[in-house]
Amino acid sequence: MNLQYDVSLKPYNTLSLDVKAAYFVCINDLYDLDAVRKFCLDQKCPWLLIGGGSNLVLTQDFEGLVMFMSMNQVFWPVEAASTEPMDHFTVIVQAGYDWDLLVAESLLRGASGLENLSLIPGQVGAAPVQNIGAYGVELKDTLESVEVFDFDTGKAFTLAAVDCEFGYRDSIFKRHQCWIITQIQLRLSLNHKPQVGYGIIADTIKVLSGEVAAKASPQQVRDAVIHIRSAKLPDPKDIPNVGSFFKNPIVSDSKMKTLARQWPGLVAYAIGSNEHKLAAAWLIDQLGWKGFVQGEVGVHEHQALVLVGSGVATGKEILDLAQRIKADVAENFGVMLEVEPRLFNGRGEFYLEL
Ligand code: EPU
Repeated sequence: MNLQYDVSLKPYNTLSLDVKAAYFVCINDLYDLDAVRKFCLDQKCPWLLIGGGSNLVLTQDFEGLVMFMSMNQVFWPVEAASTEPMDHFTVIVQAGYDWDLLVAESLLRGASGLENLSLIPGQVGAAPVQNIGAYGVELKDTLESVEVFDFDTGKAFTLAAVDCEFGYRDSIFKRHQCWIITQIQLRLSLNHKPQVGYGIIADTIKVLSGEVAAKASPQQVRDAVIHIRSAKLPDPKDIPNVGSFFKNPIVSDSKMKTLARQWPGLVAYAIGSNEHKLAAAWLIDQLGWKGFVQGEVGVHEHQALVLVGSGVATGKEILDLAQRIKADVAENFGVMLEVEPRLFNGRGEFYLEL
């Protein structure tokens, strides 16, 4: 392994937070992971794995070892020898591969299933951790299995999708921080059925291509998603951010009804029979935060869920703003927002309390 010292993490996180790692290593294979594990045990130092760094807030210099996931091969299936028509294929992708490149390449190979998840920043290995989702599709819909390296025991194992405890922005990986995802296997469809239940997707397909949504090709769905995301969400290369900073809160039926009486226009989606998911962006927007700027941090002008930094902002400034928004929403709506990105101080992960 190629150990480096005092490395700035600014290029490795999409908020461009300029903190340093005491030790830094690029992970190219499982041997590197094994060697790093032994190093961390010997030195008794904490560790942190960074992929795309697109869901991460670093508040201090990291006292331990930071690994950057560089395993980035894709294993597409070789053309089937059989002449039988196939309705799907599986692809194996290492954790360091760029997510959106995978989406684009899968469509070029005639496979669908990932097009609604276009343009989500980050690496493949981060996708199962928060079960990335957008426009009615979640990673769990195509995932078959995940290869894991357990940093505690040094053992590698396979986890089937059914055992990943996937939920909204949630998975078993959030509860096992010593599990490192090294590879995933996806099942992609060769019989495209467009997922266009979100009105905005259908409308955008019509505007961009003139096509009826139900007949849209995977590429037309991807073009629509890219169009919508580009208009609303800032590209981290231009404006540092980590996408949605809060999860959409889930509340009871009675709480939703009380809020809807007080706040006409409340945006809520039923989940099952007794619960509703509220649009956190709408709550934050009602309180006037959209476009707010203070010092080096602010709230994006087109999406109230996205906190932005100036490029020289600190993680503490971002978190102070998040805390103010969270307190304001709690006071006005009686709803506790949960932070979506993972937060790290000098020694490891922590959680934001109000
Ligand atoms: N809205 C506002 N103000 C805003 C933005 C949105 O009132 O500033 C309202 C919209 O009018 C809409 C509602 O809030 O009625 C929901 O907005 P949107 O469709 O943009 O989706 P979201 O709930 O804000 C979620 C995901 C996004 C994902 C979109 C599309 C979470 C936390 N976020 O956002 O994911 O792209 O749905 O499926 O679930 C991400 O995780 O980084 C991310 C961008």
